[in-house]
Amino acid sequence: MRELADRVVVVTGASSGIGAATARACAAAGMHVVLIARRAERLGAVAAACQEYGGRALSIPIDVAGAGASDEILGRAMKEYGRVDVVVANAGYGTRIGLLDMSELDLRTMFEVNFFAALSLCRAAARLWISAAQPGHLIMSSSCVGKFPLAYHGAYCATKASQAMACAALRAELQAHRIAVSSVHPVTTRTEFFLESDRRSGSDGLGVEVPDHAPRFLVQSPERVAAAVVRCMHRPVPEVWTSSLVRLSAALFTACPWVLHQVLDHQARKERQQDARSRNSDPSAPA
Ligand SMILES: NC(=O)c1ccc[n+]([C@@H]2O[C@H](COP(=O)([O-])OP(=O)(O)OC[C@H]3O[C@@H](n4cnc5c(N)ncnc54)[C@H](OP(=O)(O)O)[C@@H]3O)[C@@H](O)[C@H]2O)c1
Repeated sequence: MRELADRVVVVTGASSGIGAATARACAAAGMHVVLIARRAERLGAVAAACQEYGGRALSIPIDVAGAGASDEILGRAMKEYGRVDVVVANAGYGTRIGLLDMSELDLRTMFEVNFFAALSLCRAAARLWISAAQPGHLIMSSSCVGKFPLAYHGAYCATKASQAMACAALRAELQAHRIAVSSVHPVTTRTEFFLESDRRSGSDGLGVEVPDHAPRFLVQSPERVAAAVVRCMHRPVPEVWTSSLVRLSAALFTACPWVLHQVLDHQARKERQQDARSRNSDPSAPA
């Protein structure tokens, strides 16, 4: 059981959703938080909520995919607190676009934010801990769809699968240094994620808070994911799942790929029907 009081945690994507809830849950556990995202005002509000628990909060408004971002984040955290104990690489976004329709630039940008920036921050923190002979914990917000794909979300799923793969390998590579590595695999979580995904996919106005393909009984709150992440900080595990049912489904899909492909075909048909419906109700929408 790891003691969290007075430990320092860096949380990226802390201006909303799972990241903001995780920062608050860490503060409630007695940790000092370093909050990372681009929207400074939103970070300020989360910092104020964290400080109400009595700990300290440092906001760093920055694009995680910008040049030198990881060094800047860790440098400023070290300057402020003199230590970093846990990194939660959580910043990320998705889109709902077929792989052929997504531009090469958009595809690469998504990998920069979701995968390369997360890995870069984790590598930099691990190097810091190894050089100081200090233990640490790296946590990446992957997704359940890091373990099985969804049609028309292929690029996003690929970034999340890359995170899951990197975490599994890193965990084995770093255990000799007393550095734990965990990937988190939330199911549909009620955050700004899907509104942002619609905006980036050019489907403004669809405005769904949670997508049609998500069974409502599986939809979770960001606080539930955050609680699971904090439990994992206390007692590190390689993978954090917030739904046993989806975890079992992922195992079934791996064991029986034909089941996965049946499910995917069905889901792809439903997505195309949804597109057709929204084209019919909006004559100005592209065919
Ligand atoms: N919601 C779900 O159903 C779900 C399920 C599984 C996994 N996840 C994963 O959980 C993570 C958090 O998602 P969420 O649901 O909490 O979505 P969210 O509410 O949209 O939060 C995304 C966060 O990422 C930050 N961000 C995005 N791009 C960034 C960039 N370039 N630089 C810095 N920060 C950036 C955003 O802040 P700014 O806009 O202020 O920069 C925001 O704080 C993501 O990695 C997502 O893939 C979500």
